[in-house]
Amino acid sequence: MPEANIPARILMGPGPSNVHARVYQAMSAPTLGHMDPLYFKLMDETQALMREAFQTKNELTLALPVTGMGAMEACLVNLVEPGDDVLICVNGVFSGRMPEIAERYGAKVAKLSVPWGQSAKPEQIAEALKKQPAKLVALVHGETSTGVMQSNLGEIAKICHDHGALLLVDTVASLGGSVFKSDDWGVDAVYTGSQKCLGVPPGISPVSFGKRAEEKLAKRKSKVTSWYMDLTLIRKYWNEERAYHHTGPINMTYALLEGLKLIHEEGLDARSARHAKMAKALYAGLEAMGLQLFVKNPADRLPTVTTVLIPAGADDAKVRKTLLDQHSLEIGGGLGELKGKGWRVGLMGEGAKPNHVLLFLSALGGILKAQGASGVKPGAGVEAAAAVING
Ligand SMILES: Cc1ncc(COP(=O)(O)O)c(C=O)c1O
Repeated sequence: MPEANIPARILMGPGPSNVHARVYQAMSAPTLGHMDPLYFKLMDETQALMREAFQTKNELTLALPVTGMGAMEACLVNLVEPGDDVLICVNGVFSGRMPEIAERYGAKVAKLSVPWGQSAKPEQIAEALKKQPAKLVALVHGETSTGVMQSNLGEIAKICHDHGALLLVDTVASLGGSVFKSDDWGVDAVYTGSQKCLGVPPGISPVSFGKRAEEKLAKRKSKVTSWYMDLTLIRKYWNEERAYHHTGPINMTYALLEGLKLIHEEGLDARSARHAKMAKALYAGLEAMGLQLFVKNPADRLPTVTTVLIPAGADDAKVRKTLLDQHSLEIGGGLGELKGKGWRVGLMGEGAKPNHVLLFLSALGGILKAQGASGVKPGAGVEAAAAVING
């Protein structure tokens, strides 16, 4: 049987991340029918905890039976009507997919291109909207391809609203691992994925639409272009109508609910502080080893994914393979512009813990030393990280 041979990896790539034993246990509970009153009760509990995770009171909050890309597509197809002007901040691979999707649904897309490794400045967004008004602005909170976090979302939301635009935010790599306040910041629509900081296997994605986004949906002149993704239909399965739309992903809902309960028990503030501290320890360790972080401005760094530049003399693929073979530890290679130039190290959910940081730094140090990578001080990483962890 293949499952007998599947090892418990230490998942330190840009997702998926390690899953808590309680989540696996929840998933193995008996499958209920998708119209069972008990399942509806679990959907309600999941919805309440999704609202808490997004920090919102939005009524239209539900989970879609898709991965993060499906949630991105669902939000765009619901918020875009053919001919709509849309502004997209592009600073990496994932934000780079949004224009392609929006265009397929008929949007006239303007891109605000930001260099990789940086986030968009609110004044750049204001300038772009002044030049070309848009009905929707979309951006990624945590760009997994570069390790950049978009800050100033409250200020950006205000600029969008002042220009008559809605703000859509991708939190696939950030929700549950960094501060996110949907209502306080005025975010109109938001989605996330399960397999990163929520600590749940891939395949289910929370989405939330606020009042302005709901209004846009209600006033559409044309039907949502995708039947399966049409939130005006799916919401009737999640609200008191309980109208069948699709067979709910029953056991994945149990998993999501358990993952959200773990977040609730830890507390959002404590959880984001833990991620921030572990990221700080990782930065200190990598820099003490003589390695360079790709994101230069500390204010732009995403705590859940760190991109470190590959030092001269190191063999990218061999380093990653040795980490996997020797330590059963996975990190990510570079994507797009960073292919062959950077490694992406994830500290997400269960993975954002001292043992992961220290093992990774000590393993990496040994491997780089064996490869003769130039200017690397292998032991210094663990010492510097330990000082942050114990500080
Ligand atoms: C920021 C961001 N958005 C969207 C996605 C797509 O999610 P998925 O691979 O689960 O479809 C990812 C995946 O890494 C991501 O990091």
